[in-house]
Amino acid sequence: MSCLENIVLLFLVLSILCLSCNVSSQSVSLDKYLIDCGSSSNVSLGNRLFLADDSDSNILKTLQKIFVSTKSSSNLSTFDSKLYQTARVFSEISQYTFPIRNPGRHWIRLHFFPFVDENHNLSSAKFSVSAQSFTLLKDFQMNKGSTVKEYSLNISSNTLVLTFTPSSDSFAFINALEVIPLPDDLLPGDAKTVGLHEARRNFQRQALETVMRVNMGNQAVSSQNDTLGRSWVPDGSFLIHNNEKFVSNMNIVKFRKGFSEEIAPKTVYGTATKLNTEGNPIYANVSWYFDASPGFEYLVRFHLCDIVNSSALDLSFNVYINSWFVSSYSDISNQDSNAVGVPYYLDVVAKVDDGSKLKISVGPRSVDDIYAPAFLNGLEIMKLSNSKDSFVLDSLSSKKSERKIVVAACLAAGLTAVVVVVASLFLICRRRRKLSLVNGTSGNATFSGAEIAYRFPLVVIQEATDNFSENLVIGVGGFGKVYKGVLRDNREVAVKRGGPQSTQGLVEFRTEIEMLSQFRHRHLVSLIGYCYEQNEMIIIYEYMENGTLKEHLYGSYLLRLSWRQRLQICIGSARGLHYLHTGPAKAIIHRDVKSANILLDENFMAKVADFGLSKTGPGIDQTHVSTAVKGSFGYLDPEYLIMQQLTAKSDVYSFGVVMLEVLCGRPVINPSVSREKVNLIEWAMRYQKRGQLELIVDPCIEGQVKPESLSKFGEIVEKCLAERSALRPTMGDVLWNLEYVLQLQGPDKTPNDNVELSSSHVSQREASSESHIEVSTVNLGDLADVSMSKVFAQLVREETG
Ligand SMILES: *[C@@H]1O[C@H](CO)[C@@H](O)[C@H](O)[C@H]1NC(C)=O
Ligand SMILES: *[C@@H]1O[C@H](CO)[C@@H](O)[C@H](O)[C@H]1NC(C)=O
Ligand SMILES: *[C@@H]1O[C@H](CO)[C@@H](O)[C@H](O)[C@H]1NC(C)=O
Ligand SMILES: *[C@@H]1O[C@H](CO)[C@@H](O)[C@H](O)[C@H]1NC(C)=O
Ligand SMILES: *[C@@H]1O[C@H](CO)[C@@H](O)[C@H](O)[C@H]1NC(C)=O
Ligand SMILES: *[C@@H]1O[C@H](CO)[C@@H](O)[C@H](O)[C@H]1NC(C)=O
Ligand SMILES: *[C@@H]1O[C@H](CO)[C@@H](O)[C@H](O)[C@H]1NC(C)=O
Repeated sequence: MSCLENIVLLFLVLSILCLSCNVSSQSVSLDKYLIDCGSSSNVSLGNRLFLADDSDSNILKTLQKIFVSTKSSSNLSTFDSKLYQTARVFSEISQYTFPIRNPGRHWIRLHFFPFVDENHNLSSAKFSVSAQSFTLLKDFQMNKGSTVKEYSLNISSNTLVLTFTPSSDSFAFINALEVIPLPDDLLPGDAKTVGLHEARRNFQRQALETVMRVNMGNQAVSSQNDTLGRSWVPDGSFLIHNNEKFVSNMNIVKFRKGFSEEIAPKTVYGTATKLNTEGNPIYANVSWYFDASPGFEYLVRFHLCDIVNSSALDLSFNVYINSWFVSSYSDISNQDSNAVGVPYYLDVVAKVDDGSKLKISVGPRSVDDIYAPAFLNGLEIMKLSNSKDSFVLDSLSSKKSERKIVVAACLAAGLTAVVVVVASLFLICRRRRKLSLVNGTSGNATFSGAEIAYRFPLVVIQEATDNFSENLVIGVGGFGKVYKGVLRDNREVAVKRGGPQSTQGLVEFRTEIEMLSQFRHRHLVSLIGYCYEQNEMIIIYEYMENGTLKEHLYGSYLLRLSWRQRLQICIGSARGLHYLHTGPAKAIIHRDVKSANILLDENFMAKVADFGLSKTGPGIDQTHVSTAVKGSFGYLDPEYLIMQQLTAKSDVYSFGVVMLEVLCGRPVINPSVSREKVNLIEWAMRYQKRGQLELIVDPCIEGQVKPESLSKFGEIVEKCLAERSALRPTMGDVLWNLEYVLQLQGPDKTPNDNVELSSSHVSQREASSESHIEVSTVNLGDLADVSMSKVFAQLVREETG
């Protein structure tokens, strides 16, 4: 006990040290960041100062420190050109992290100018950009000219994380970026709608992309003439008839009390485009066409100000989006007869269903109103992020997964016979292969179970990992590094490389291979092979596209998992552990259950990994006294710590901790929060015991968790975390109870379930056709081996040829 206390004390001291160094490194400004990326000197544009972001900037984090700054050799004459002379180029996933003091809406502006220098052709870049959970750009490419992308996000956490992800074989770049807090009253939380089912649309949580900001009257307003750095483009090129007139009368504009001048500058309200009624009144609309993406909703803001002083006439005209009537000017101006020169605006949410245009019109209400000069002063069009937190349709991937399911179902439906034939062929192949492998490689196989795993020559692994290229590192641990590799048959694998320098010894290496080769289960990561040559201890696993559960809960992945996905992941990993504990041969205790050891495949199906510490238990109810305490800090069963008695219930305890991480979306120990929150288990259990678990649910899934399912979930966690192992449930109990929690969550119909990743739909469909899938995965497991036979066919060829 005193030992445990010492550890905790040491930890606290360390965390205080950490905290103090963090504080001193924070930058000082009011959530406003202007950065000239890749530049080593500050650049001022009007009254805006863009800071240099040198390599040791606190806010730029690249996962692998691979980035360069580069300089343009072309001369630009535009106002912003100073920003476009340098760029930051990323060949790896990289992040800017901005501290945010005041929650609320912030603009993010991304400046891109794809120049060419001796080392880079930025036009060939292809990449994605995300901010918090929102996908801003996906596989984005641009050829020429400068582009500014503007988004607004309602930030509730204390950091804004901007992530640049190069598409495969490409890179990302950025010339400048801005983070600017929006004045409070600039963007409301909702607006009236046209063409939608509900009368008002709330978008507080959504992100908005500014797709158009237009100043009518055909006058540009540049960013330095706008206090908030917005630029407004002239409307001339969007007009579709020739029945309009551009007018300007700056002096008449008078902001009334209570109207924020930051809504739009005087230069926007002081110019307008109006229906040309002079001399020859016409019954027609003035219309503008703008590009829009079908399926998305748009917030359209009309800026209106009577600068033509037509009060003599009964000033009334209609405003339309596509063919929907939005409002009449007299309603917008509240029939105020003194409205001359007074700015107004009107917000409307509309959905673009078919076609890819948004048509904005103003025109007379009827033929009796043809003398009323319909006009518009400014227009902003903002795209609302969709239910997948994205601005980009991901139709391709959803089609792909549909196809996958169809394929799986077909396989399941009728091809069992074929599979049997293929499987027996495969067995025959495997015999042959084993022989040639044994003959072919340098013979220091030391494993009792050598015949159960495949042995790869080192050269093959070197080739697959580009000779252990740092660019391919996907994980680092005490044992060494994990690389992504591609075998000759294009199969992706994860390569864990232990070596003389690693802390994972030969014993763990061996344990892991022996354990893994004994079983194949859809919720346990599968072993592909190993290599033991020149002191290299390498294990090759199936590649898990979506990395670790931990990364998805509070790590570098920005799309957060939905509650339903989280439950499915818990159920999957519980199934894997249950299989281990009740395994057909002998019970196995994993001993290192943690969120970093639960991996997710392309469909977010969970697989338990890392069996280096696993032990074969003598039986599930018997205890096992071990000599050294092993496992991961924070997840360790307290009883095991004290009594050193290892049982399957130690895994149950650790699993309870994982369930808490899943619920709260935070690490087990978080030294950077207030003292009473540092330890997740203590903190969360206080809430559970008070029946207030809902207060600590991860904000990312707020509103998705049904009270009944939360309450049951909390109950299971509490049982798993019981001090005395005898009081903890078995993994089987946990599994059945978790399935019940998913049932309590109800069918997939709540509106909040829309706020999910695309892949979750895949897993839901999977769950609904569970029987099919169960069959198909058995088959697919065998097929995986078949494709493995290709690998070995290759190896054999290599050795013989
Ligand atoms: C840029 O401006 C900031 C803030 O004024 C200052 O602290 C910094 O030293 C300047 N950097 C350079 C390279 O001039
Ligand atoms: C850019 O301007 C500099 C100096 O004004 C000049 O030396 C250089 O040749 C120009 N580059 C191009 C591509 O025009
Ligand atoms: C840069 O890349 C683009 C697109 O890949 C290509 O069209 C262009 O010719 C390249 N320019 C140069 C100077 O290499
Ligand atoms: C931002 O979101 C919070 C809730 O998370 C909400 O209370 C607030 O009104 C939102 N702010 C804006 C400007 O939409
Ligand atoms: C900014 O506004 C002033 C006054 O209206 C004008 O003279 C100037 O040209 C504007 N600058 C730009 C870059 O539009
Ligand atoms: C509008 O025009 C009328 C006369 O037509 C004039 O009396 C009035 O002062 C004008 N209003 C403004 C705000 O200029
Ligand atoms: C203006 O556009 C609206 C919406 O498309 C339409 O209903 C109306 O008839 C048009 N008015 C004129 C005068 O063409």
